[in-house]
Amino acid sequence: MCGLGQWGPNLLRNLRENPDCEVAVLCDADSTRLKEFAEFHPDADLVSSVEEVAARTDIEAVVLATPAGLHGAQVALLLNSGKDVLVEKPLALTVQESRSLVELARSRSRVLMVGHTFLFNPAVRQVRSEIEKGTLGTPKLILAQRLSLGRIRGDVNALWNLAPHDISILLAW
Ligand SMILES: NC(=O)c1ccc[n+]([C@@H]2O[C@H](COP(=O)([O-])OP(=O)(O)OC[C@H]3O[C@@H](n4cnc5c(N)ncnc54)[C@H](O)[C@@H]3O)[C@@H](O)[C@H]2O)c1
Repeated sequence: MCGLGQWGPNLLRNLRENPDCEVAVLCDADSTRLKEFAEFHPDADLVSSVEEVAARTDIEAVVLATPAGLHGAQVALLLNSGKDVLVEKPLALTVQESRSLVELARSRSRVLMVGHTFLFNPAVRQVRSEIEKGTLGTPKLILAQRLSLGRIRGDVNALWNLAPHDISILLAW
């Protein structure tokens, strides 16, 4: 598990609760964050860089919740080291880089999944099911609005931070 800031601990909790997962390594550039979560994972190794995770040969898959601007390079490194990757949204910060990561995953026969959380939201799934069943007819217009301020980020703007959620929902519908 790489990235134990605000969101990563939610993913880590899910890994901890999944009997099919063994969390082998906790990774964060901030040692304070590492120590905070180490007590829940006494058997996990603590490392400060994704490079150290990539170098491990005993790890099958990596969950990445680091800042968005780092995703492209880190995902490429992990795929090239033979790991399956679940990366938080956005996959990368350009379409070109995103496409090349998808290609890389295909060429290496690795799983590359983006954390489009809302695709697993019961309300979103219900609307999709109603569209599939035809009860809603053919949607002609879908309007998405973000009405509360949320967290102000310095690394990516609101479009890169929030629109991936709405676009993933629209594509699923
Ligand atoms: N799916 C969702 O609903 C959802 C919600 C919030 C955030 N996110 C996504 O999760 C990702 C992380 O967001 P966040 O809010 O937790 O950010 P954050 O800044 O709170 O946490 C990032 C963590 O990564 C660590 N880090 C930074 N550089 C690193 C490096 N080179 N190697 C290892 N660790 C490093 C930082 O020390 C920090 O602990 C973002 O991509 C964001 O878009 C998704």
